[in-house]
Amino acid sequence: MPKIEIREATIDDVEAMRGLLNDEIRNDVNVWDETPRSIAVMRAWLVERLDSGMAVLVATRAGAVIGYAGYGPFRPHSGYRHTVEHSVYVDREERGSGAGRALLRALVKIAEERGIHAMVGGIEAGNAASMHIHREMGFVETGRMPEVGKKFGRWLTLVLMQRTFDGDNAGTMP
Ligand SMILES: CC(C)(COP(=O)(O)OP(=O)(O)OC[C@H]1O[C@@H](n2cnc3c(N)ncnc32)[C@H](O)[C@@H]1OP(=O)(O)O)[C@@H](O)C(=O)NCCC(=O)NCCS
Repeated sequence: MPKIEIREATIDDVEAMRGLLNDEIRNDVNVWDETPRSIAVMRAWLVERLDSGMAVLVATRAGAVIGYAGYGPFRPHSGYRHTVEHSVYVDREERGSGAGRALLRALVKIAEERGIHAMVGGIEAGNAASMHIHREMGFVETGRMPEVGKKFGRWLTLVLMQRTFDGDNAGTMP
């Protein structure tokens, strides 16, 4: 089996990334959007992220994109400028083979190198796999907000997991 590689995303990856995101939007509760992204919206999002120096990474196997991860502003107010919110997506067929962990590890490394102070992931409370890899990468739960989302007719709880690079709850990475 060819190994998983991690690299920075380019605009040529946008359609593959859109496929991964729209699968989540249509079929699962890990993304709380309900309308699939058009290619124009996804492309504009990626261009904006790349142009503003936000990290976007893809995982590939034999050249094919099997996952992606990235971060952007946590909240749109200047006082939050040292904090980012990130997300990670892996093709269903590829889950459990280490791509999610590899993407998150690489993203944390870039954030730290670029002087980000805190990373926050918003995770649906039932998403044990995501919590598992976040804990492994030194994230701790810093927030739990019951029933702030609803999808497929079900109330959803948001868990915030945070890694602070030189703060009180700073974790350690393996
Ligand atoms: C979360 C996600 C990114 C993980 O990607 P992945 O490629 O499967 O991750 P990895 O293979 O690196 O690791 C998954 C780990 O979770 C563990 N895991 C899976 N299901 C689990 C469960 N129900 N309970 C506890 N751990 C679980 C696996 O055993 C594995 O750990 P291990 O290698 O120590 O055994 C992927 O499931 C995904 O894309 N989910 C949909 C989108 C999403 O939830 N994104 C995260 C929100 S920020």
